[in-house]
Amino acid sequence: MPELKAKYPYYLNNEAVFANDDLEVTDKYSGEVATRCALADSAAIDAGIAGAVEATDAMAKMPSFAKKAVLEHCVARFRERKEELAYSLCVEAGKPINDAEGEVTRLIDTFQIAAEESTRMHGELQALDISPRAKGYRGMWKRVPIGPCSFISPFNFPLNLAAHKVAPAIAVGCPFVMKPASRTPLGALIMGEVLAETDLPKGAFSILPCSRDGADLFTVDDRLKLLSFTGSPGVGWDLKARCGKKKVVLELGGNAAVVVDSDTRDLDDAVTRIIFGAFYQSGQSCIGVQRIIIHEDIYDEMKAKLVAKTKTLVSGDPKVRETFIGPMISEKEAARLHGWIESAVAAGGDLLCGGGRDGAMLQATLLENVPVDQDICAEEAFGPAAVLQKFSTWDQAISMVNDSKFGLQAGIFTRDYYKVQQAWDEMDVGGVVVGDVPSYRVDNMPYGGVKDSGLGREGILFAMEDMTEIRNLVIRTPPG
Ligand code: SIN
Repeated sequence: MPELKAKYPYYLNNEAVFANDDLEVTDKYSGEVATRCALADSAAIDAGIAGAVEATDAMAKMPSFAKKAVLEHCVARFRERKEELAYSLCVEAGKPINDAEGEVTRLIDTFQIAAEESTRMHGELQALDISPRAKGYRGMWKRVPIGPCSFISPFNFPLNLAAHKVAPAIAVGCPFVMKPASRTPLGALIMGEVLAETDLPKGAFSILPCSRDGADLFTVDDRLKLLSFTGSPGVGWDLKARCGKKKVVLELGGNAAVVVDSDTRDLDDAVTRIIFGAFYQSGQSCIGVQRIIIHEDIYDEMKAKLVAKTKTLVSGDPKVRETFIGPMISEKEAARLHGWIESAVAAGGDLLCGGGRDGAMLQATLLENVPVDQDICAEEAFGPAAVLQKFSTWDQAISMVNDSKFGLQAGIFTRDYYKVQQAWDEMDVGGVVVGDVPSYRVDNMPYGGVKDSGLGREGILFAMEDMTEIRNLVIRTPPG
């Protein structure tokens, strides 16, 4: 097993700093302090923002081949340090080792995509002579970096969701300051260590774990031109209300639904994918399956298969390869979701399996007949619990999916092309996944939500668009 260092520095204006104050990073399974990292105060964050402002011009002028070289260096170093990265996720997030390794693979993809996209910052030539008054005029536009960016990344994918901000920023030439989640700062700090090996202009990046007090600068400081936040809906919308003139990208949560129609040929395959979507990394994914909407003709059969498979999931120490369900991020979160399960049962819901809790370990739980206004249906569970619901017509299934204040992704199992089209047209979500669960994501696809699930899209190319402004050029050809 790789080992964690005794202490990790933060990165201020590209340099490692071991500050006086420390943040304890606990092993989320054992609850013990696993390591420490330097904790940034307001002065450090202010200096990081000032450094980013200083670096704006140099970053904007970096040639594409140089940005690509930085991103390719990261790809190579992440490949070399794969085992160490996965282990740190396993400890700091309690992420089962298989999921942790999967996240490192995706981290590498994310930087690889950014390396490729960094050489494709295209613009467009536009004919302006659309009426006599514009005769002799032509236009063209290009993208220019928006300037210093502020990034706040979440605990559930400490590496890859940080990478979805860092890699496109480098690809377009934006300096940035980042606040990683205080409970899981290691992934981003190791990324900082790798970035510090490159020749990015001084001030190009600062990665600063900090307490809640200092964190406000990431939101309110006017020198920052964009805020990209991934995290809970409550926090995200509050930040948007306080961030002044900045552009805002919010990648928030959801209560994702999967619909299984009666024409699904291989129910076992659907069950395997749904169990994965509902329970991988203890359901702590914004696109984890929370509502399983099943056609009435196959409901009983699917229910029996889902319950049987859920009961086989191995829970325990995330460092053990056989473990599928590890701890939730904290005992507090597990107790919160456990309370929602109890309240769903008190309101008339039936517990099909699971429902027990020991500290931060919550059993994989399935329920049915839960009133839709219960938190476990209507709010974001963000843990290993899902509800089964029944539908009879496709119109009804679509309206059940849409009966949510969230709209991130939906999954549908059907073989009927017309139903696929209708779902794509009518489901009020950021993306529809056919033949699989809403939890499926490849890192180059547009990813983000509607309604309370957020604003804007990540998925390198789309984040690059957000991190740039269009600058237009109009050319008049004078007569003669
Ligand atoms: C998220 O939790 O929003 C990200 C899910 C993913 O990248 O797979």
